[in-house]
Amino acid sequence: MLDLAQRIVLCALLLGSVYASCPPRCECSEAAHTVKCVSRDLRSVPTGIPGYTRNLFITGNQISRIGPECFKGLDNVTNLSLSNNRISELDSQTFAGLRSLRSLDLSNNQLAVIHPEAFTVQNQSLQELNLSRALYNHSSVMDLATSLRWSSLGTLKRLDLSHNGLIYLPSHIFSHLTGLQRLQLSNNSLVAIHNNSFSGLEHLEELDLTLNALKAVPEEGLRELDSLPRADLLLGENPFTCTCGIEPFALWLNRSQGRIGDADGLVCAFPTGMRNTSMLSVGTLTLGCHQSGAGADLALQTSYVFLGIVLGFVGLIFLFVLYLNRKGIKKRIYDLRDACREVWEGYHYRFEIDSDPRLSQVCTSADM
Ligand SMILES: *[C@@H]1O[C@H](CO)[C@@H](O)[C@H](O)[C@H]1NC(C)=O
Ligand SMILES: *[C@@H]1O[C@H](CO)[C@@H](O)[C@H](O)[C@H]1NC(C)=O
Ligand SMILES: *[C@@H]1O[C@H](CO)[C@@H](O)[C@H](O)[C@H]1NC(C)=O
Ligand SMILES: *[C@@H]1O[C@H](CO)[C@@H](O)[C@H](O)[C@H]1NC(C)=O
Ligand SMILES: *[C@@H]1O[C@H](CO)[C@@H](O)[C@H](O)[C@H]1NC(C)=O
Ligand SMILES: *[C@@H]1O[C@H](CO)[C@@H](O)[C@H](O)[C@H]1NC(C)=O
Ligand SMILES: *[C@@H]1O[C@H](CO)[C@@H](O)[C@H](O)[C@H]1NC(C)=O
Ligand SMILES: *[C@@H]1O[C@H](CO)[C@@H](O)[C@H](O)[C@H]1NC(C)=O
Ligand SMILES: *[C@@H]1O[C@H](CO)[C@@H](O)[C@H](O)[C@H]1NC(C)=O
Repeated sequence: MLDLAQRIVLCALLLGSVYASCPPRCECSEAAHTVKCVSRDLRSVPTGIPGYTRNLFITGNQISRIGPECFKGLDNVTNLSLSNNRISELDSQTFAGLRSLRSLDLSNNQLAVIHPEAFTVQNQSLQELNLSRALYNHSSVMDLATSLRWSSLGTLKRLDLSHNGLIYLPSHIFSHLTGLQRLQLSNNSLVAIHNNSFSGLEHLEELDLTLNALKAVPEEGLRELDSLPRADLLLGENPFTCTCGIEPFALWLNRSQGRIGDADGLVCAFPTGMRNTSMLSVGTLTLGCHQSGAGADLALQTSYVFLGIVLGFVGLIFLFVLYLNRKGIKKRIYDLRDACREVWEGYHYRFEIDSDPRLSQVCTSADM
């Protein structure tokens, strides 16, 4: 009897020490509810992370694969950082068991494959998702778009997609992120804003588009940005090209100054003569679009005259070649005439057969 009691106590002690203990190569602080396994060359998520953990940092390691089994029993984790690893694939439901998760940092990884429900969290509690420099290349963006739609991220408030080499945004990519307040897209290679690039972002308060490849934002993009009336915008460090076509954008900038955080700092990058000119001072007069109209007319006239001369010259050469070939051509024409005659006679003969009532009757009765 005593033996049994002793054993139970021993077991309880052992269990207790397992739960209270800290995984190898990690530092645990029960008082701060924090576990850190930072730059320890780990190849996988360690087991035995204590249940009290709220802040879990497994950063700067060599982890390449993670799955739902890595995060069993971690009900209290609210902040999880897996940044600076080598994670290349995210399975569906990987984080689903983390029922208190509010902030997930996957920055500086190499995500090439993202499954549709990769970011699903059981309690739909996720508020912050950091995918800065996290995608392997632009090709992952379709996977990303699907998982942002399928992962029930209605509570997400902040999404960081900076430094990812994105070339375009798939239509409706953010349309299920109805609670999003802050969207970071800086340092990508976005060349345009299209219809529905930002649809669904009704509560967006801040949109960062700095360091992209926007040469201008044409009407379609301006309409899209106007569909986010509450959002402050950042547009700096784009290669704005100040030629005549940029007028609508320049006028829009002047009109929307109030909500463009860096409006005063926006400058033309091209053409060279306009470099560093403030976008707010770019107008019809500075660009000289209307004066250049007369110049264009003159250029057009000159090009017509040139075209006429070239065509005349080609015609002369053609006539000359005809003249040189006149014997051959005459023979060809005779041949052609003979051929036509044969064809015509053949046709005429067949026509007579077709119009012969006896023969056509034979045909119709045969059809029946
Ligand atoms: C989570 O924290 C609560 C309160 O701090 C604690 O009672 C509970 O046991 C913890 N959960 C786990 C799985 O340890
Ligand atoms: C799930 O979230 C709700 C609020 O959204 C909260 O009241 C509840 O405690 C959470 N459940 C768990 C298990 O964390
Ligand atoms: C946890 O994440 C929240 C944002 O959801 C943040 O405000 C807080 O500072 C983070 N805590 C730690 C310890 O990183
Ligand atoms: C995301 O992570 C990067 C690098 O780890 C960091 O610089 C950035 O501030 C984070 N973004 C947010 C919104 O916290
Ligand atoms: C992304 O990387 C994959 C694998 O290396 C490659 O096949 C694909 O062409 C790359 N996509 C882009 C847009 O570079
Ligand atoms: C932009 O991202 C590239 C890699 O994607 C990086 O090399 C570069 O330093 C980043 N630029 C800034 C200003 O962060
Ligand atoms: C964008 O929407 C406008 C009207 O809202 C439409 O006229 C235009 O054709 C659309 N552009 C594309 C590329 O679908
Ligand atoms: C443009 O302005 C920046 C700083 O405002 C300056 O460093 C740069 O030399 C300027 N370039 C030209 C071509 O004026
Ligand atoms: C910009 O708007 C102001 C009024 O807000 C106006 O006075 C100014 O002429 C505008 N500039 C251009 C270039 O349209």
